[in-house]
Amino acid sequence: MKTRSIVWDEKYGFCKDELQEAKRIMERGGLVAFPTETVYGLGGNGLRSEAADKIYAAKGRPSDNPLILHIADKEKLPLYVSEIPEHANKLSEAFWPGPLTMIFHKNECIPYTITGGLDTVAIRMPSHPGAVTLLKFMDFPVAAPSANISGKPSPTEASHVKEDLDGMIDMIIDGGEVGIGIESTIVDLTEEIPVILRPGSVTKEMLQAVIGDIIFDNGIIRQDSGPKAPGLKYRHYAPNAKMTVIDGERKRVVAKINELASGFSALKVGILATEETKNSYPKGHVVSIGSRKEGTLTKGLYRAIREADRLGVEQIYSEGFSKEPNSEALMNRLVKAAGHSIITL
Ligand code: TXA
Ligand code: MG
Repeated sequence: MKTRSIVWDEKYGFCKDELQEAKRIMERGGLVAFPTETVYGLGGNGLRSEAADKIYAAKGRPSDNPLILHIADKEKLPLYVSEIPEHANKLSEAFWPGPLTMIFHKNECIPYTITGGLDTVAIRMPSHPGAVTLLKFMDFPVAAPSANISGKPSPTEASHVKEDLDGMIDMIIDGGEVGIGIESTIVDLTEEIPVILRPGSVTKEMLQAVIGDIIFDNGIIRQDSGPKAPGLKYRHYAPNAKMTVIDGERKRVVAKINELASGFSALKVGILATEETKNSYPKGHVVSIGSRKEGTLTKGLYRAIREADRLGVEQIYSEGFSKEPNSEALMNRLVKAAGHSIITL
């Protein structure tokens, strides 16, 4: 299959013919990757089983890992869910459009292939203007997981999507680099007390301020039911190289990484650092995630992991950021990328 690339531009938007083409592709069950404010999504018709099958096949994703439906109008919500709890109205008022996904009991029109066999469905209303235009143009909700090969870091640029899925999907919409860089916060509203299944840039405190009581489920597999978000049981965001996070006070972290890196040949070790610390490492390939001061670490994390991998290193050491403000979601992804290999100083 030849993957067609088209461009969405902040100033000029879509070319009308190309938007029409994206619609035709999805109508007949094909796949279109598109930018959202969090990460790039791999979109298909959310009312067609065939689209779900293709998404799972292209990503190499286990089919028990459900997909998020993307919509552009709140008014469409009642078409896809069987009940809208009061919390959902408050949360959508506060955070939609934006990086928040909510889980509801599903309506019959949503195929079980989309929900991985569950009676619940995840729904999100993105704010990226390109995504909004695309979604408004469709007569169906767009099912979209992150547009990466399963287990790899989510794509934050169209080139990442190409790297993973070229030749396996119909179209890629290139909207440049995304703004947030990690996936949406997921909240399950089908429980009596809402549960955060995946942290994101909408934080627990922000949610609490709107609806009060909320629980954070860190994805630990429970004996009775397994993890609530099936995706959480799979290895995620991971580089090919081995990766370890060193967390603690900044100076000590730098010293520890230098000590660990000295055990490798310089070409075989990668270091994930920041604009503020990148010059503190004499040995190894140093990749900057972003700036602590400017708060761009989340935005650059997945790009940095991909970059370190391209250098062909055997081992990656990353600085940890639990001392930085609002670092919960960032640390969640970093520690998962490292397969939970973390040294706390
Ligand atoms: O920011 C995002 O959410 C991006 C963009 C493209 O919108 N999408 C995304 O999708 O991250 P994905 O498929 O990579 O992650 C979806 C997560 C998975 O962990 C999945 O298990 C969980 O959402 N999920 C989906 N439906 C669910 C449901 N009904 N119950 C529990 N978890 C669900
Ligand atoms: Mg994903």
